[in-house]
Amino acid sequence: MSDYLDQIDQHNLPKHVAIIMDGNGRWAKQNGRPRVFGHRAGVKSVRTVTEAASRLGIEHLTLYAFSTENWNRPISEVNALMHLLVETVKGEIKALNKNGVRLNAIGDISKLPAKTYKALSEGIEDTKDNKAITLNLALNYSAKWELTEATKAIADKVRKGILEPENITEDHIAEHLATYNIPDPELLIRTSGEHRVSNFLLWQIAYAEFYFTDVFWPDFGAEEFHKAIYQYQQRERRFGKISEQIS
Ligand code: IPE
Ligand code: IPE
Ligand code: MG
Repeated sequence: MSDYLDQIDQHNLPKHVAIIMDGNGRWAKQNGRPRVFGHRAGVKSVRTVTEAASRLGIEHLTLYAFSTENWNRPISEVNALMHLLVETVKGEIKALNKNGVRLNAIGDISKLPAKTYKALSEGIEDTKDNKAITLNLALNYSAKWELTEATKAIADKVRKGILEPENITEDHIAEHLATYNIPDPELLIRTSGEHRVSNFLLWQIAYAEFYFTDVFWPDFGAEEFHKAIYQYQQRERRFGKISEQIS
């Protein structure tokens, strides 16, 4: 298939890849179409990249689909995105089951419109036994929201005498995040030429490798994904040590 795919080292795959899917709007504009057209095209990339990740044997894929800040977009775009989510989740369940994809969500999904919440909850329930890959959709998610919720939950345990402040560890914090059952992503990808994190997984990306590409999300396919994985494999992850200590 692709050149990059042939060069990927199967023994050095990230377990978890997180992606800030960006550039749908600009992609649509470039094609002289409304922004929603770009979001629709973006769904195709979600499907392609999920399949590519699963085929490689990556266990967790987390996609930033709607941030808490995205509520500030024009209401028509927010509504279109919420509708697209319902349509997509309902339309994809069969394929998700066929491909062994377990759907999961991180974020305050109870605050999504009722129809979106329902479709999502059903999708999560209907795919819960799938084992090939977990697809985490970050919806109404932001890292500051997540860390605030974690702080509240830990403070509550302290108040109830379940936990002493001096005994709070990094593990306690990690356990109270939406990603409590998922390893931290080794690789964070952002498309569309933007070089920022936009309130995504701040705690979890403490040691992630960042990969930025100018490609707009609707143009990001399997080949682009393989390239990102290959590039990741060329990095030396030192974790504070020096090169000679890494074998
Ligand atoms: C990413 O594409 C999708 C969402 C944030 C929902 P954008 O909609 O941000 O596209 P641009 O950045 O305007 O091109
Ligand atoms: C980040 O993209 C959020 C998602 C991909 C869902 P944005 O396009 O909303 O980010 P900013 O506003 O440019 O930082
Ligand atoms: Mg954007």
